[in-house]
Amino acid sequence: MSINRRVSTLDEFTIQQLRNFPNATGELSNLLRDIGLAAKRVNVEVNKAGLVDILGDAGSTNVQGEDVKKLDVFANNQFMGVLRHGISCAGIASEEFDDIIVFNDEISNHSKYVCVFDPLDGSGNIDVNVSIGTIFGVYRRVTEKGKPCGIEDFLQQGTKLVAAGYVIYGSSTMMVYATRRGTNGFTLDPSIGEFTLSHPDIRCPEDGKIYSVNHGNFFQYDEGVKKYIDTCQKKNKTNGGPYTQRYIGSMVSDMHRNLLKGGIFMYPGTTDKPKGKLRLLYECNPFAFIIEVCGGKATNGKQRILDIAPGALHERTAFFGGSKLMMEELEGFLLKG
Ligand code: AHG
Ligand code: MN
Ligand code: MN
Repeated sequence: MSINRRVSTLDEFTIQQLRNFPNATGELSNLLRDIGLAAKRVNVEVNKAGLVDILGDAGSTNVQGEDVKKLDVFANNQFMGVLRHGISCAGIASEEFDDIIVFNDEISNHSKYVCVFDPLDGSGNIDVNVSIGTIFGVYRRVTEKGKPCGIEDFLQQGTKLVAAGYVIYGSSTMMVYATRRGTNGFTLDPSIGEFTLSHPDIRCPEDGKIYSVNHGNFFQYDEGVKKYIDTCQKKNKTNGGPYTQRYIGSMVSDMHRNLLKGGIFMYPGTTDKPKGKLRLLYECNPFAFIIEVCGGKATNGKQRILDIAPGALHERTAFFGGSKLMMEELEGFLLKG
């Protein structure tokens, strides 16, 4: 098989993008390169997860009371490490830490950005060889440069995201990132160890036929959600159903498929957990940003995800995101209740 060597690598692409902004400092390119490097390291470990003693639980729980898998810890350390040693990031907030991590050294205090991430998403799938991922978001800090970053840098609305992206460790490994200028996907070419541009200018199909939701919680969903799911299963004139149900149980994989093929992903609130399970900062905001840049929509059922003013780092929210027309149909059901 011949591989087209003229395609851009992730580094080449982000540097080319800089040409559009003569005043840009290159810090965002640096940061994306750092994230790409950590992703490659995590990818190596994910690929040999069956061979080494890295499967299973690390024996602790994270700040949200969930079992921590060893690969979660490894991935968390990799992303934190590259960002700490890089020049672009003043601090991070991760699903795995109680509080923000302020790098607080001479270079980091002058950095322009802070990062939020879910180092390993879908970690319940690690042991069974199903795709997992990493999710990240980049904010321009609002605290004064030259000083350590602070909590206010992280509690910004999603509308303030400068970039957001994800890595999917699947049948191939991909990094996808969005800025206001567009969304581009890079596939890891193992022969040269580089992410190469494979999916330029990704657009989410306006309409789709896939709906993704945990059906096990059906009887705990609000009436509007139940009625929408019911409609997805019926053949009718308005939506051309029945739709196809696909649910991997790792948001990265479910959103990635629906972004490319057209579809809707839902994690609604339940009677037990009215705000659902997904975290606003690490999961919902980055994906809401990506899906909007790609032409789709994301809401919590009442308001646009990106408009939510976060009150706490680990806050959760219901999430509905995907193809524009499917989202509009869903919103009709949610309004009626
Ligand atoms: P994480 O592994 O980071 O805790 O996230 C898992 C999340 C998300 O990826 C997925 O969509 C959801 O949990 C699945 O939850 P259910 O098993 O409750 O459907
Ligand atoms: Mn997650
Ligand atoms: Mn996680």
